Amino acid sequence: MELSKFISKAAKVGEIYNLHHFRLGWQKPEYRRLMGNELVYPPSPKVIEAVRSIADRLNYYPEDPYTDVELRAKLAEYVGLPGRADWITCGNGSMEVIDLLYKAFLDEGDEILISTPDYSPYTRRVPLYGASVVSVLPVDQDFNYTLESFTSKITPKTKMALVSRPNNPDGHQISRELVRGLCQTGILVVIDEAYFEFGDSPVEDLLDEYPNLVISHTFSKAMGLAGIRLGWIVARPELIEAVNRVRTPLNIGLVTKVAAMAAIDDADYIRENVRRVKEDREFLFNELKKFPGFYPIPSQANFVMIRVTNGLKASEIYEYLLGKGYITRSFVNARGLPGDQYFRITIGAHEDVLGVLKELRNYFEENSISLQSTTVKERM
Ligand SMILES: Cc1ncc(COP(=O)(O)O)c(C=O)c1O
Repeated sequence: MELSKFISKAAKVGEIYNLHHFRLGWQKPEYRRLMGNELVYPPSPKVIEAVRSIADRLNYYPEDPYTDVELRAKLAEYVGLPGRADWITCGNGSMEVIDLLYKAFLDEGDEILISTPDYSPYTRRVPLYGASVVSVLPVDQDFNYTLESFTSKITPKTKMALVSRPNNPDGHQISRELVRGLCQTGILVVIDEAYFEFGDSPVEDLLDEYPNLVISHTFSKAMGLAGIRLGWIVARPELIEAVNRVRTPLNIGLVTKVAAMAAIDDADYIRENVRRVKEDREFLFNELKKFPGFYPIPSQANFVMIRVTNGLKASEIYEYLLGKGYITRSFVNARGLPGDQYFRITIGAHEDVLGVLKELRNYFEENSISLQSTTVKERM
């Protein structure tokens, strides 16, 4: 039987997202996971206790995020919006949340502006909804954007702009002024704040001023709970209502809920982990600058992306580090990252940072590249 006749238009244009790096991480538990911007520190004892305490009630359905005011109220408070539980809804990770936003707001023929590079699943799922991606390019090789970068791409078909802030993979954070400017254009502006705890200026306060602003969050980064899969968005109740209409009911599991609530309650634990990551990020960044041909991009997130020059190949460095037990991420001809010149290191524990630096020095030595030579002067 010809099975292709059953396949929908959306499934025909859909792509399978390659997540082999996580497979590798689970297959090689002895390797250090510096590839997916997870936190390497385990959940707080309070989170572990909360998960244990719900285990004997897993025979029951959880509440739906729509009725679960308790969870949403806590999330609202976490981002400084107490009493605004109705400004929030949840998804199975922010990957699902982004998809829900597409489902709720994109129609056939719409255009969505997406910064380039940015988190790669963003672009892949747009065609499922009959919409198309318009790539917005940075104005320099430090990944800065101007408002013009975006406004010059706006057409009558433009429905939405989507930017991660700080950005994955480059770590750069667009300015608050740029977010304001984007909102003033009147299109729907989605700011993915997956890494905002590592940055220095969340934009939640702008929600009062701009009803067309939507902010996305996750428990996978600073909260250190990538395994529970909790993403959530903050926006005006009218927009949240639209997302709830397209959301699968009961999409948040019971374990996810209790772990998330306990994590927020243990604010000191989160703060301390964020402090450690930021300290190690600065240390790694400054050390990376000393390698000839390396140009680390200043980062406001929990990773540093490096551009390599002088004939070095990012994929070779990635393979070398992998051989030493460090899984990093190289980008070869990725969207907005041409050639074989970019790789990214997630900030692990301090020993991971030291270990990676040691192996990079070994790589240079084995390839007879003097570490004494001057560092890259031209910043691109
Ligand atoms: C910018 C950005 N948004 C969202 C995600 C995915 O988050 P989640 O684990 O909540 O699906 C990532 C993961 O790397 C990311 O970098």
